[in-house]
Amino acid sequence: MTIVVAIDGPAAAGKGTLARRVAADLNLAYLDTGLLYRATGFAVVSQGGDPSDENLALSAAQKLTPADLENEKLRYDEAAQAASKVAVIQAVRDELLDFQRRFAEQPPVGKKGAVLDGRDIGTVVCPDADVKLFVTASTEVRAQRRLKELQDRGLEAIYAQVLQDMKDRDARDSQRAAAPLRAADDAVILDTSDLDIEEVIAQAKSIITQKT
Ligand code: CDP
Repeated sequence: MTIVVAIDGPAAAGKGTLARRVAADLNLAYLDTGLLYRATGFAVVSQGGDPSDENLALSAAQKLTPADLENEKLRYDEAAQAASKVAVIQAVRDELLDFQRRFAEQPPVGKKGAVLDGRDIGTVVCPDADVKLFVTASTEVRAQRRLKELQDRGLEAIYAQVLQDMKDRDARDSQRAAAPLRAADDAVILDTSDLDIEEVIAQAKSIITQKT
């Protein structure tokens, strides 16, 4: 029996750092599902296309290879915005679903299970996950965290712009018809606005241990 941990939440809530640490500490495989949408969106814009164009976006999703997920540019905001545009398209989501489910069901040999992070893991990709966490924080705290992350990488960024981009992306993610961002009914909500990352990791690990 393997265990599946689903971690969802809005942009820059700390899902990635949390998921990576939980995976390392509990010997689970980790999949950042946002990368699949980033790589799809980025493939379209880097060819000069519109990521809202269903045919272009679907064709990019169908052609994704593991190497595409390694591109450093996927971490930039341009890729994030393009990701949230291809992510509203149901056909794109359907195309990416199998890969995510297979990863959850058949983690690599030697791993005790899998952790997936995204927007719809607990609601759509793995509705039967053993543990579901919904990690969130106020919009302002998340924008501050993203600003610091960009500046730490040596990129120029302005708080007002980062905040606006985040609000745009949150709105697209939560208002779309296809798998909108929301907490599953059986998810544990972790509000990290006033917690540092070590406190978040400790709380998450204690919830996972109790439930598995
Ligand atoms: O790191 P951050 O939380 O900012 O973004 P991400 O997890 O890399 O996701 C980028 C975009 O992909 C999101 O804004 C969503 O539009 C989309 N996404 C999605 O729709 N479903 C997922 N399971 C993961 C990401």
